[in-house]
Amino acid sequence: MALRCDLVTLSSPRLRLRSWREEDLPAFAALNADPEVMEFLPATLAREESDAMARRCQTGIDERGFGLWALEVPGRGDFIGYVGLSVPCFEAAFTPCVEIGWRIARAHWGNGYVTEAAKLTLDFGFTVAAFKEIVSFTVPDNVRSRAVMRRLGMSHRSEDDFDHPAVHPATTSGGTSSTGSALPVRTSKPFTSPDGLAAGYPAPPGPAWWRESGR
Ligand SMILES: CC(C)(COP(=O)(O)OP(=O)(O)OC[C@H]1O[C@@H](n2cnc3c(N)ncnc32)[C@H](O)[C@@H]1OP(=O)(O)O)[C@@H](O)C(=O)NCCC(=O)NCCS
Repeated sequence: MALRCDLVTLSSPRLRLRSWREEDLPAFAALNADPEVMEFLPATLAREESDAMARRCQTGIDERGFGLWALEVPGRGDFIGYVGLSVPCFEAAFTPCVEIGWRIARAHWGNGYVTEAAKLTLDFGFTVAAFKEIVSFTVPDNVRSRAVMRRLGMSHRSEDDFDHPAVHPATTSGGTSSTGSALPVRTSKPFTSPDGLAAGYPAPPGPAWWRESGR
């Protein structure tokens, strides 16, 4: 399936959050193959796995009208990674929920791009999609990701801490801890967003998943 044209573009003076393009795939594969970028994620991705993930991101955008958007920094990088919204498919105390997430190439860390893109995303989530809550989570050691959450004003709810099933499947399936797993158990930390951010985007067309969900 080919990647689609833009349905929604969110932009700031420095950034564009947009739909995915075929030309994004090599740069996405490169960052997904970088052990530093993937340090707190289950594993680096092979080219085919990376391409499949990009297509899943775009399918989500096509189906819901929101998703994990490709991040562009005009003049610096046509594609540097993604920032956006997704709907986790595992069960935890805070699901069903809408999650905000991010992943960008190492060369672009430390410029404030992710926090800025995340603010655009939250603005979309609260003012256009009218979500009441947006959640984020990461492993405790991922200090850079937690710093983004802090900069966004999100707050940690310790009662929602959980074992991520992608890292430790036995926990959420109700079984006992797997001693055979090569991966350590990691407790992730959900955060909730501050109430409302500035309005300003026209309501997007397309499927009204979020309105039907009543969230
Ligand atoms: C987590 C991740 C997205 C954070 O990226 P980041 O670049 O550190 O985050 P920001 O875009 O908010 O940038 C903040 C930094 O830019 C600096 N900065 C520079 N210019 C800036 C500007 N104009 N405005 C704001 N901040 C600016 C800030 O001071 C801060 O620096 P610091 O890291 O020295 O404190 C990135 O490390 C990453 O992709 N990691 C791998 C994937 C991952 O773990 N994803 C999360 C899984 S849960």
